[in-house]
Formats: sequence, C-alpha cells, structure tokens
Amino acid sequence: MAGYLRASFLALTLALFMLPFFKSSLACPNTVTYWGQHDNAGSLKDICKTNNYEYVNIAYLKNYAGGSPTLDISYHCRDCSYIGAEIEYCQENGIKVLLSLGDPGSGTGTNASQLAQYLWNNFLGGESSDRPLGNAILDGIVFEDFNPGTVLKFDELAKELKNYSTTDKNVYLAAFPPCHEGDYNLDSVIDTGLLDYVWVKFYDDACCEYANNNAGILLNSWFRWTSRTGINLLFMGVPESEKHASSGYIPPQVLINQVLPVIKSSLKYGGVLVWHNFSSDSYTPQIKDYTCKNVENILTWLGTAI
Ligand SMILES: *[C@@H]1O[C@H](CO)[C@@H](O)[C@H](O)[C@H]1NC(C)=O
Ligand SMILES: *[C@@H]1O[C@H](CO)[C@@H](O)[C@H](O)[C@H]1NC(C)=O
Ligand SMILES: *[C@@H]1O[C@H](CO)[C@@H](O)[C@H](O)[C@H]1NC(C)=O
Repeated sequence: MAGYLRASFLALTLALFMLPFFKSSLACPNTVTYWGQHDNAGSLKDICKTNNYEYVNIAYLKNYAGGSPTLDISYHCRDCSYIGAEIEYCQENGIKVLLSLGDPGSGTGTNASQLAQYLWNNFLGGESSDRPLGNAILDGIVFEDFNPGTVLKFDELAKELKNYSTTDKNVYLAAFPPCHEGDYNLDSVIDTGLLDYVWVKFYDDACCEYANNNAGILLNSWFRWTSRTGINLLFMGVPESEKHASSGYIPPQVLINQVLPVIKSSLKYGGVLVWHNFSSDSYTPQIKDYTCKNVENILTWLGTAI
C-alpha cells in the first residue's frame, strides 16, 4: 500500500512537473492576426482582449519607399497616437504588436539605412516629435509581398533594423510570403536568416495548398519550407473562410485533425496565421479551443487516473 501511494505520488508529481511542457508542445497554436484595415473590426484593444492571438500586425504603413511614409489605419483614426495605450495594453498581456509594411509607393529616394532609422525613431525604441502611434514601442516590423523599388532593399532593411536590437529588447522581424518557391520580393530577406517569424500564405496557389480534400500537396510544401535555410519559426497561413481566398480553404476540423498534428513535429513550427480581413474571425477560436481543451482533458484524466 505504501509503495502504491508512493508510486502514485511520483506519477502525480511527474504529471505536474510536465504540465508546462504539455501546454507548450501540444496546446493551442500560437496565432497571428492583422488589424487596421476594416471599420467593423473593433479596436486593437478588443482584438487583444479576445485572448485569441499572440501576434497582432498593424496594417499598414504605406508609401515608405521614398515618399512620405503614411500610417493608413484610417477606418479607425487619423490622429492615431491614442492607439499607443492600446498597444501597451496588448503587450502587457503578452501579445507582440508589429507594424506591417504595405504598399511602398513609387518613391525612389530612400535607402535601407534611412528607412530603418525612420522606423526606429517613429515606431520602435527611438525618439521623434512625430510618433504616429504615440510613445508605445512596437515589437517589430513585418515585410509584405511588395517590390520596394530599386534603391530600397528588404534584405538590407532587415540587417539595419536588427542592428537596433539590444539584449534588453529585440526588434522582431517577420514576413508574409506566398507559398510557391521563388518569390522575387521576399526571397532575399528570408535568406538573411534574420526573420524571427515567417508566416506563409498556404492558399491562393494550387502548387502548395489544401485541395480536393487532400492535405498532401500542402504538407509537402510545408516541409519544403521547413528545410529551407533562413527559416527560424514557420507559421501555417490559412484563410478564415472560402470567401477569404480564391482557393486553398481548409475547414478548421481538417486543420486540427490532419494538418496540425503533422506540422507540430517540425522543429521550426511556430503556429498558425488566420487571414480574415481584419474583421470577425470565427476560425481562430475553434483551433485554439479544441487543442487547448484536449490538453486539459488529458491532464484531468491523468489527474483522476493516478
Ligand atoms: C543612404 O542615404 C544616405 C543619405 O543620402 C547616405 O548618407 C548613405 O550613405 C546611404 N546609405 C547607403 C547604404 O546607401
Ligand atoms: C550597427 O550599429 C552600430 C552602432 O550601434 C554601427 O556602428 C554599425 O555601423 C551598424 N551596422 C550596420 C550594418 O548598420
Ligand atoms: C477582403 O478585403 C479585400 C480588400 O479590401 C476585399 O477585396 C475582399 O472583398 C474582402 N473579402 C471579404 C470576404 O470581406
């Protein structure tokens, strides 16, 4: 009897000890969303309050390739400095807030070091009298699939931005490339290896998406991406519904049952990006809920079994 109790006690201790490990390896995928382009999306703070996301990208800073950089979240604000407090609210709740670089415009007058300095002073840890998002210090910058022109190079910009990182505060960098191999705009910045996160758009492209109720092509593409040099953490980008992509929609139950269990085993697996046009998102809560609840069930079962 004493031996039995001791064994149970050991098992319970072990289970409790393993709990954080279970939570991080099996539980809810880390998820990414965009915010800023639609008036029906709620405030940034509302998005962060849902507790559904680990990363929120503010979309977009435009016209940065030599014109005058413009923060375009005009559905929400023209003077957006009050958003700074909402960014800090998100950050206090463990959510990283990044600034996404949208349409660069047709200017040609800026180079990587000038733009990095601008981003640092106006959105990151530097100082300027013109801080469009107030004094909040954003966590980083997202590169989108645009051609920034002949003078500005994204790979150089990434190097210049990373150079502002300190041991106290990293400048996080990410990109949102399409899933086919060989992307003219983003390949060189991915190849630097400086991007902390690459969230890949695994839809809208027959050569690398879910099709005909089959995840084969999608998973092959995922593993080509994980074996690519320069990738640190890779995210599976999926559309929220059929309306949000021209092809490649994966129902959440299929993602949960056929895709997540496979891609989770990749050392470079980072999580999931759900593309949902900045508005209501019914997809992310489902993938969070299911996987988190499953882990809780296993732990409860372990707890009662011993
Ligand atoms: C970027 O532009 C500035 C200002 O014109 C110039 O001083 C600097 O040398 C340029 N840097 C590079 C890497 O071209
Ligand atoms: C990085 O920053 C240091 C100073 O902090 C500077 O001396 C160096 O030239 C920068 N390197 C690049 C690639 O910008
Ligand atoms: C998503 O946004 C794009 C660009 O604003 C728009 O063309 C498209 O119709 C939107 N889709 C949905 C489902 O709202």
